[in-house]
Amino acid sequence: MSALGRIGQKLLFTLDPETAHGLSIAALRCGLPVAGRPPQDNRLKVSLCGLDFPNPLGMAAGYDKNAEVPDALLGLGFGFAEVGTITPLPQTGNPKPRIFRLPSDGAVINRLGFNNEGHAAAEKRLAARKGRAGIVGINIGANKDSADRVSDYERGVIRFARYASYLTINISSPNTPGLRNMQEREQLGELLSRVMAARAAAPAKPPVFLKIAPDLVEAELEDITAEVTEKQMDGVIVSNTTIARAGLSSAGFAGETGGLSGKPLFERSTIVLARMRKLLGPGPTIIGVGGVDSAETALEKIRAGADLVQLYTGMIYAGPALPGRILSGMARFMDSQGLKSLRELRDSRLDRWAAKPL
Ligand code: FNR
Repeated sequence: MSALGRIGQKLLFTLDPETAHGLSIAALRCGLPVAGRPPQDNRLKVSLCGLDFPNPLGMAAGYDKNAEVPDALLGLGFGFAEVGTITPLPQTGNPKPRIFRLPSDGAVINRLGFNNEGHAAAEKRLAARKGRAGIVGINIGANKDSADRVSDYERGVIRFARYASYLTINISSPNTPGLRNMQEREQLGELLSRVMAARAAAPAKPPVFLKIAPDLVEAELEDITAEVTEKQMDGVIVSNTTIARAGLSSAGFAGETGGLSGKPLFERSTIVLARMRKLLGPGPTIIGVGGVDSAETALEKIRAGADLVQLYTGMIYAGPALPGRILSGMARFMDSQGLKSLRELRDSRLDRWAAKPL
């Protein structure tokens, strides 16, 4: 991390989490040199769904909700950046405070509730960067008060297909009442049919991924797999935050309502990832997210079945140099094992992870 980055990181921790988040976005927007030059290594390249990722590590959705800084995030070393969740209309989200740090657990609880500036504001920014290099995924959602949530997703697909390297259908936030019910078979079938029809009619046809919760039982994972397969979606992102509170040592904010992310989510989200790989088979793309904060945790997601990996909470604690550190660590690991491509590692611990109890 640069000296500026180190001082900035310390300062941010003296502020409440949401103010700190706003300042970090402002720093990236201004182009402040918050981290050193990230490593580039051909062995880390991943190609899938017609996209060539310079490396498998992405910024997860929720950090850049309004598509303000995707290129600055790529500049930190991320191989791809996912913006959003973006809903058709702007919405303020839940009352503050709504983000809580649990430092002794390396975790965060948030109940933001899709606060974002809406489609039009994000589209303006994405249109301004159209044609630039770099993989930018666009994560779309539904407004809390929408009378027709499925149509909110359709509108997202139609509006953003032309700007998106890929689209993410996010139905797994715990902070919009009833949203997660869209993961149930009947509702999911209807949603995915309409989403895929919207993509077929859109001017561009980016891959479409479904982002799921970690709080699902095997039968629900089977239903999701059946729908994802039948509707020929390109893959899944596993997982969003959890409503479980297992394994927390911090008494402080542990009782707050919302989604838990960071270290305590690693185990559960990696088990669900492995089970989804087993159910889906080797073909579809899986992006593993939840508790990644080191080269070792990123590599373990790949061993459990992931093609690509994302993080968010890890960067809240480790700062903007984290992606560069993870990539260097991955390259060192490949040196030590004589690996030529990360694909050689994928699924190498699939059975072990899939067999763990949820
Ligand atoms: C998130 N996450 C999230 N996900 C999503 O699909 N849309 C969103 O708007 C948000 N918003 C959001 C805000 C905050 C403050 C956090 C911490 C997280 C979930 C995120 O993308 C990721 O799935 C989980 O946080 C798990 O990864 P980490 O944080 O453990 O690396």
